Amino acid sequence: MNKVVDFHSHILPGIDDGSASLEESIAMLKIEAEQGIEHVIATPHFYPLHDSPEQFLKRRDEAEARLREEMEKHSGLPKLSVGAEVYYFSGISDSDIIQGLTIDKKRCILLEMPHTLWTDRMYREMEDIWTKQGITPIIAHVDRYIAPFRTHRIPQKLGELPVLVQANASFFIHSATKRMALRMLKDDQVHLLGSDCHNLSTRAPNLGAAVRLIEQQLGPKMIERINFNENEVLIG
Ligand SMILES: [Fe+2]
Repeated sequence: MNKVVDFHSHILPGIDDGSASLEESIAMLKIEAEQGIEHVIATPHFYPLHDSPEQFLKRRDEAEARLREEMEKHSGLPKLSVGAEVYYFSGISDSDIIQGLTIDKKRCILLEMPHTLWTDRMYREMEDIWTKQGITPIIAHVDRYIAPFRTHRIPQKLGELPVLVQANASFFIHSATKRMALRMLKDDQVHLLGSDCHNLSTRAPNLGAAVRLIEQQLGPKMIERINFNENEVLIG
């Protein structure tokens, strides 16, 4: 099976509403490995209006260090990189805090958009994150905004911007959305995948099932295309 990177996970212990403990994080990483996922990006929530980047990065780096130390006691776990799931705020494209929140210290950030109607200003800021700061926004879990797709043309509008689009594995797994997910991937409206896993129960790692479905339905070439996008982000 071709491998993909889990680009969205809440797998660092005790830092947000994701993994609650070191044990849970290790168990989640083991599930990822069992599903053939060899590289996981930890993207804890960062809410700029409620948290300072310095404090967030300190907490994140401590959680990462604890997890890495524990990972050394286990074999066969995926590679770990870190980033953040940065919540959109007005003025983000002019803010220097995003420079410190990129994935694997390269040139992309995972950007969570509000669950309200996306205004022209928001689209403009997505573009300006690239034009003003040279950082490519990766729009997190585009499937979360699925309800207004038809009326607000979100996938089409994103297609006109210098952004990448991440979709969650559940988008591909659920029978109600599977066809739309595969079509968006085929039409290059989705570029990266993530489990958005939070725990071992209600939101466990599930990317393996999505990758299998994509391979079956769209063939190994589609996985290669995703791998190409992953490399673009991780090589920077
Ligand atoms: Fe998330």
